[in-house]
This record gives sequence, structure tokens and C-alpha cells, in this order.
Amino acid sequence: MEAITRPAPAKINLALDILRPRPDGYHEMRMVMQSVSLCDTVTLAEAETGFSLDTGGSFRPEGEKTLEQRAAEAFFQELGRPCPPLAVRLEKVTPAYAGLGGGSADVAALLHLLRQRYAPELPLEALERIGLTVGSDVPFCVRGGAALAEGRGEILTDLPSLPHCRIVICKPDVSLSTGEMFARARGRIFQTRPDVDGMAEALRAGRLERVTKRLCNVFEEVLPPEVKEEIQGLKAALLRCGAMNAAMSGSGPAVFGIFSSEEEAAAAAETLGAWCRQTFLTRPLERAESMAV
Ligand code: C5P
Repeated sequence: MEAITRPAPAKINLALDILRPRPDGYHEMRMVMQSVSLCDTVTLAEAETGFSLDTGGSFRPEGEKTLEQRAAEAFFQELGRPCPPLAVRLEKVTPAYAGLGGGSADVAALLHLLRQRYAPELPLEALERIGLTVGSDVPFCVRGGAALAEGRGEILTDLPSLPHCRIVICKPDVSLSTGEMFARARGRIFQTRPDVDGMAEALRAGRLERVTKRLCNVFEEVLPPEVKEEIQGLKAALLRCGAMNAAMSGSGPAVFGIFSSEEEAAAAAETLGAWCRQTFLTRPLERAESMAV
């Protein structure tokens, strides 16, 4: 079998609200998510034996089955067929453990590749359902574009993508665990909650300034103090460089700023890149672009 390849776009959260803890240990969420042009690349080939994952040196917890292997097994279980020997290769660009959905995007791209090769008739909804068994953000990454995400993140309502703009993403050199961030948020009463419906309406109206006015992520209220300072510093720097607004993405620590001007965004990425090594100049993706093979 010839190897097949697909980009795996990262996501940002334009709005992120945590409603309440659920009996199953997860939290009920309301989020507006947007795919961006920051991408890993995932390649799938058939192998001689077993399941191999070449991460290009990026970290994977030892002794655990990888998310990719779990996704492939769940995919073939859905088809009622044994999982063939597979070799998966990732070319990582998106920082991991950053709140940018890098790991989820890789799994989603792998599911698309498996569908393309083994079950082109399988509906997208089935792919999203399989993705949810591996991670809460995978269904959105399978779908791409922009969406309101509710429940654990799997109840998706399509939205138009952000109007023309540039997004500068900065990933500071600190790590935050998603599980720990949810634990810090558990039972908390947040001072500022996002206007999630207003954000969805702003996208439907195609009004960039209404979107940027409403950027809000409740995880920013539960950051450990030493990280909070760094995040606030990066947001302030993005604003000084001309961003219309800035926020943290997901459970962090990546921060993004939205710019109406391509030139200002490019200049900001250069300025901030001198301070924050992992700085990326990106743009929003339409659903059709994020799905393009
Ligand atoms: O679904 P995923 O494996 O990405 O979630 C990682 C952790 O984040 C979960 O174990 C859970 O502690 C927390 N989480 C949550 N509520 C969600 C999504 C994730 O509490 N909606």
C-alpha cells in the first residue's frame, strides 16, 4: 500500500466556559473552537507487523498504548474487522500539551486517513464518535472549521470560520496538564464568564471586532500564579503589537492574538519570536480547507 498523508490543523478556543462537573468525571463545557493553519503532518502506511508510531522524537508516555493506536483499534472495531499492521508517522510542528489540540488533531487526521483507505463510505459522525473514545477534542478536530462545542466537547454545531484575519500564537516554555487544570477549576465560581452565544452570533454575522471583543477563557482564572504572570505578559505584548485582543487557548499555556492587518501580525510574530521561541503566524481555516486531503 502506498503511504497516504494529511495535514492535522491545530485549534484555538475563541471562548471557553466550564459549566459544571459531571458524574463521569468530565466537565460540561461550552466552547467556540476554530481550526488554524498551524499543522502537523500525519502519514499512514501498511506495515509488516504490529502498530508502529514514529513521532519524530516528540514525547510519548512510556508503557501506555498511544492515542493513535487506540484510535486505529477503535476504528477497526467499528468496522468489525481486525486492525491490520500499520505504520504511522507524525511530523510535529504544533507544540504538544499547549491547549492547541495538537495530539487530538493528529488522531483526527489519522482517523480521516483510515476512512480514506479502508471505509470511504463511513459517515463523518461515526468518525467523530470513534474519536471521542480517545479524547474530548478529537470530534471537533475531525470536523474542523469553526464550531460551538458542548457536552464534553463532542456536541458540535457548525459555525462560519473567523472572517479574514491573522492569528499570532505564542507557546511559553511552561507545561500545564489538562487534567490538573480541570482539577483546579473544579467547584470554582468564575468571575468572568464568556458570552458563548454572543461569540457564535459574532461569527455568524462575520464581524471580527465583535469576535475579538468576546475572547474569554475561564481557565485563565485558575492558572498557577507563576504561570499567570507569563500568560498576562504575553497577552499584553500581543496587544502592544497591535492585536485586536488576545486570550489563552484551551487549558493553556499557548496564547493567541487576533490581528486584522497581515503586516502588523507578521511584525508582531517577529517581535514576539525574539521573546517566545515558539511563536507562529497563522490564519483561520474554513471547514473545507481543514478537511482538504
Ligand atoms: O478527554 P481528554 O482525555 O482529552 O481529557 C483529559 C482530562 O481532562 C480528563 O481526564 C478530564 O480530567 C479532563 N476533562 C474534563 N472535562 C472535559 C474534558 C476533559 O474534566 N470536558
